Amino acid sequence: MKNKSFILAVAVMANCGLLSAQTVTLQLDRAQTKVSPTHYGLMTEEINYAYEGGLYAQLIRNGSFKDIVGNGRNRGGQRGFRAPMPQYWSVTDTINATLSIDNRDGMNRANPSSACIEVKGKGIGLVNDGFWGFPVRASEQMKGAFFAKRDASASSDGVTVSLESLDGSVVYASAHVSGIAAGWKKYEFALTMPEKVTSTKDARFRITPDGQGKYWFTRVTLFPETFNDRNNGLRKDLMTMMKDMHPKFLRFPGGNYLEGNDFRNRFDWKATVGDPDLRPGHQSPWGYRSSDGLGLLEFLTWAEDVGAEPVVGVFAGYVLSGDYVGADYVGGFVQDALDEIEYITGGADTKWGAQRIKDGHPEPFPLHYIEVGNEDFFDRSGSYPGRFMAFYNAIKAKYPQLQIISTLDAKALERQALENGVKGLKYDVIDEHYYRGAIDMYRNAFQYDSYDRNGPKIFCGEWATREGEPTPNMNAALGDAAWMTCMERNSDIVVMHCYAPLFVNVNPGGMQWTSDLIGYDALNAYGSPSYYAQVMFAGNLGDRIVPLVTSDIPEFQNPGRDGKNESLRQMYFSATRDSKYVYLKVANVREQENTVSVNLEGVGKVVSKAEKTELKASGPLETNSIDNPHHIVPIKSRMKVGRQFSLKMAPYSIVVLKIEVK
Ligand code: AHR
Repeated sequence: MKNKSFILAVAVMANCGLLSAQTVTLQLDRAQTKVSPTHYGLMTEEINYAYEGGLYAQLIRNGSFKDIVGNGRNRGGQRGFRAPMPQYWSVTDTINATLSIDNRDGMNRANPSSACIEVKGKGIGLVNDGFWGFPVRASEQMKGAFFAKRDASASSDGVTVSLESLDGSVVYASAHVSGIAAGWKKYEFALTMPEKVTSTKDARFRITPDGQGKYWFTRVTLFPETFNDRNNGLRKDLMTMMKDMHPKFLRFPGGNYLEGNDFRNRFDWKATVGDPDLRPGHQSPWGYRSSDGLGLLEFLTWAEDVGAEPVVGVFAGYVLSGDYVGADYVGGFVQDALDEIEYITGGADTKWGAQRIKDGHPEPFPLHYIEVGNEDFFDRSGSYPGRFMAFYNAIKAKYPQLQIISTLDAKALERQALENGVKGLKYDVIDEHYYRGAIDMYRNAFQYDSYDRNGPKIFCGEWATREGEPTPNMNAALGDAAWMTCMERNSDIVVMHCYAPLFVNVNPGGMQWTSDLIGYDALNAYGSPSYYAQVMFAGNLGDRIVPLVTSDIPEFQNPGRDGKNESLRQMYFSATRDSKYVYLKVANVREQENTVSVNLEGVGKVVSKAEKTELKASGPLETNSIDNPHHIVPIKSRMKVGRQFSLKMAPYSIVVLKIEVK
């Protein structure tokens, strides 16, 4: 098949009225341009309870008792005083037990708070609600730990830990821990779920002292079985779903989460490595606390476990409040970035490489891309080019092989550099973000076709069609498909891209951002139609782009704000190939059925049965949900093909054809 010239001509015929053949020609002989090896990727940050109550498998909520309700100390009996109480914790008997927060004699500097329970009866427990429940699955082994102490009033040194139904009437699993001492010590336990049990998330975690008196607890953790059985690991179902997306890279840690609302709450990677018991955690800009149990090493092993490379965003001296440190003072953060790169890639002879080895990962991680900051177009001070160049020069001096990504587009970067006297501006890749409605995706589905082929390389670091919540509906998947055809056709300049956000906990209060790719609760997870569209596209990626020539594709009229209609295409295409297959992707975004006549020319032989994967819905608002997770899923079938064949496109459908050629 090498160097053989063949043409795939596609004629699209609307199935209403008389058909005049509109054509799309796929020039396979001209398929020289490589598909970028970094298509497709994942983007992640702590938003929508993505890690806490999500991917990070740890199940206890507020295990370090830092989230408090109430208004502090009662200095002399003020009116309206409410004693500080830990959120998501309670006692089973409020008459015969008291619960309070104790910030004295903390167990360590990172976790100075604890819960003190004073028990005056038998069988009274301290209860945690989890992140909207706990998963109970037959035979699952869970591992937990807590730090505890007691005082002389405590009549026993034993406690029982258990997972039980919400009313406490069914105990799913329990374990006894003894030897609770007068000083802080860590205690570990295991819980094994029954062999026969109906899966549920309606469960709570409980610690019940055997005796009466005062006990203190902090850093309470509980892990179900994790992906690849990693300690301090990640949720199996979500990792499997990501693996199915064939990601080439993982962009982390944000997003706004990289920047934080203020300097104290930026993603300070050094505070996220080492023993999780010694990580202080910090406030996510999305309104809740991160324990940083999912820290830098966990991001890296996450990437490794799903077969992706890290694309690391380094904190660049700008926070969401608008505060920043100018180029002259950003040196400390530049050094942090250099140290971070050393942690990721360094050997045993380097300080931070040695730290990574000590933390449990002897092998360095692959690394090719570093992104400086996130969405620094929000920085109205014009300080970004100066800050960017401080990072660029320092990183390139030590790691010339790394590609450095700017979060400001080339024009703005150049203009601001000029205005602010920044000399010698250089950049390797530009990050662009697009959050749009489906119509806007169709409108822009040829955006990159007109980009200067010699212009800057593009990283579309956040994109999504935002229709439907908490997860996108079929209309969004169609918008995504149109946009993905654009990025695929142009992968010579759009060198990498990733959808955002990735995750949402679908419980009330879990979502801060609508339209998130994958939804879940404590027990189950599901993919949105947009998720499946990406699985289909990313799983059928050749290594060369097939140029397309189209004409007379059926259109629809979109009513404009000014009363004038705009014409938009009903169908979007991309095609790629490798030495064995041609991958044809088609999205039919409207209610009309269309038939595509495919004409393969110049092909030696077409194997007569192709693999067809189809995602469709009977209406654009149809979707998947936690209660109906498989309403819209890809269906695979075999389809008869030849040099000439017809492909019937159902309304609101996306099709990927994998055609074997010889
Ligand atoms: O993806 C959600 C947010 O959108 C990201 O945190 C931010 O980078 C963008 O504005």
